[in-house]
Amino acid sequence: MPTTAVLGGLWGDEGKGKIIDFLAADASVIVRFSGGNNAGHTVVNDYGKLVFHLIPCGICYEGTINVIGNGVVVSPDALIEEISMVKERELPGQIAISDRAHLIMPYHVLLDKLEEERRGAAAIGTTGRGIGPAYVDKVARMGVRVGELLDLEELMITLPPIIEFKNELITKIYGGEPLDVDEILGQTKRWANEIGQYIGSADEIVTNALASGENVIMEGAQGALLDIDHGTYPFVTSSSPTIGGALTGTGIGPSSFARIIGVFKAYATRVGAGPFPTEIHVQKATASARWRANSARPQAELGELAGSMR
Ligand code: IMP
Repeated sequence: MPTTAVLGGLWGDEGKGKIIDFLAADASVIVRFSGGNNAGHTVVNDYGKLVFHLIPCGICYEGTINVIGNGVVVSPDALIEEISMVKERELPGQIAISDRAHLIMPYHVLLDKLEEERRGAAAIGTTGRGIGPAYVDKVARMGVRVGELLDLEELMITLPPIIEFKNELITKIYGGEPLDVDEILGQTKRWANEIGQYIGSADEIVTNALASGENVIMEGAQGALLDIDHGTYPFVTSSSPTIGGALTGTGIGPSSFARIIGVFKAYATRVGAGPFPTEIHVQKATASARWRANSARPQAELGELAGSMR
């Protein structure tokens, strides 16, 4: 079966975008399956330097369909901005958004910030893009799916009570300012207008491509050590960047995969808070470390110290 998954082996930022850009030349469908605009894939090719947060980098190739899968949480404004970059640079691929992907709403972004503030010293160092709160609502069955933008009449009825509930949370628990319900409804209508044409049944696109024997690439975001289950919990993201996420985030079965490529970089880095496996917090008791510590002390204090050592 012709599916290749390209996954991050560390904490993201391993350079997956460059590998995907290379492989996408022979693919017809490229799928983002998890995360949101917390990710950033940079590719440099004939179109120049391009930074993608949501749209798969296969968009640079003619004849490709670039799918934002059901496992993704979509910031409509970030997506609209990226679509305009695609148009401006005349990138030749097509875009498709799963009707089952979830929307990141303005209250998710606000709650992400308020939750981080409340965590204080234990803050996760999130990207502040509303990713966690959007996934919380998905699991709490209070999320807004992208496909709901196609039935605005219904959404104008179902959305206000959710916003009102979130406003209670924002004001009563966090002491924040409530969001304007009408303003969010207005934004929602604009999103429907601007991205409605790309929304559809993404799993159908993927399964049809697989049935025709075409190459499909699963574009990973973040990395294994940020996985909600397998990463350095609680300093993780809120989705599964590992292979399980590729299955549930698109709806295909494990037998569809020909290869799973883990991308690593020679040195590890991580963004935000959280431990490294080899991290040492205690100061080493070497002579040079003591010297550095002492050199920061006032002279009088050092005199007393010297006296007590005699
Ligand atoms: P969130 O995904 O914004 O909730 O952030 C949770 C943690 O994952 C934070 O430590 C972020 O810095 C980290 N993170 C999320 N996305 C990426 C990424 O694409 N690259 C590197 N770190 C990320």
